[in-house]
Amino acid sequence: MLILGIETSCDDTSAAVVRDGRDVLSNVATNQDEFHRKFGGIVPEIASRQHVALLSAAVEDAIGRAGLSLEDVDGIAVTKGPGLIGSLVVGVAHAKALAFALGRPLYGINHLHGHIFAAYLDRDETPVYPLLVLLVSGGHTQVVAVRSAVDLEILGRTRDDAAGEAYDKTARLLGLDFPGGPQLDRLARNGDANAIRFPRHRTASDSLDMSFSGLKTSVRYYLESQDAKPHASNEDVAASFQAAVIDVLMDRVRRAWAKDAYAAVIVSGGVAANSALQSEMKRWGRANNASVLIPPPKYCTDNAAMIAAAAYFQGENVRADPLTLTADPNLRFELPGAAAAV
Ligand code: KG4
Ligand code: ZN
Repeated sequence: MLILGIETSCDDTSAAVVRDGRDVLSNVATNQDEFHRKFGGIVPEIASRQHVALLSAAVEDAIGRAGLSLEDVDGIAVTKGPGLIGSLVVGVAHAKALAFALGRPLYGINHLHGHIFAAYLDRDETPVYPLLVLLVSGGHTQVVAVRSAVDLEILGRTRDDAAGEAYDKTARLLGLDFPGGPQLDRLARNGDANAIRFPRHRTASDSLDMSFSGLKTSVRYYLESQDAKPHASNEDVAASFQAAVIDVLMDRVRRAWAKDAYAAVIVSGGVAANSALQSEMKRWGRANNASVLIPPPKYCTDNAAMIAAAAYFQGENVRADPLTLTADPNLRFELPGAAAAV
């Protein structure tokens, strides 16, 4: 089954062709960073205009690189939410037009479900449930129990900033360019993670919720008061900040894993590309005999291949959407993206 995926929920314009949910024939991702950089963050209006300018070419390119023509595609999967409304509608309108013109089924996919199924791209494995998922992106930070392709329960979530948002804001405090997460990651490799003890968010023992805004504020206070203190390098600040984020994430994963039986742990979303989080998760997996699946970095960040994968793996349990599909910027995580089967 060949699915054309389209992803335009935020600032990446992406189109991909995936066979049977795993075999990526093409994945074209056009990054808009150069247009947003001077504003220090994503400007929604610029993002949607760029999607309009870039999406047709991205789809053509994805089909061409896969060595196919549009008629070869068996279905069209598109991110229907959550995300920026102006960005989402560009992808949804495009997908609807293609589905109508080609007479193929249309699958409106929940972006967050895409991040989960990204773990199976370019791999031989298929999902074995239940799965424990740590989803860490620029907009979301959640620990999720995935009991089937369409049965998902959020066990814990951030109460304020997402982990990626904390990375980006802290990177900015350190004078790094947007998007700051990957740059902070690189800077931290040369720093001492024990240089500064930043606070770790704690909760009652039965809660898996998280908070990262206090941590970012601590970094700001630390940097502002540095004149009066022994000097720590930016590398040390970056490494110490990162250690605090990872400690909190690992604590929630460890506690969730201890509470229930899971076949594997998936770490996904943009922050899953972080090298320190990856090595810590893998180390924990080896020590606890837990299978840990982390997509390669290009599938951790937003991409259309993961949207096609979600459509394939959820396909047995959902029916195609009607052409009246609309974007839903606030789509809740628990809801399957495509219309649930009755
Ligand atoms: O999943 P994603 O591409 O978009 C959302 O759906 O939000 O995640 C983007 C986030 C940004 O905050 C970015 O700074 C962060 O992921 N990120 C990283 C790394 N690569 C991307 N954060 C830490 N280390 C990285 N290597
Ligand atoms: Zn995302």
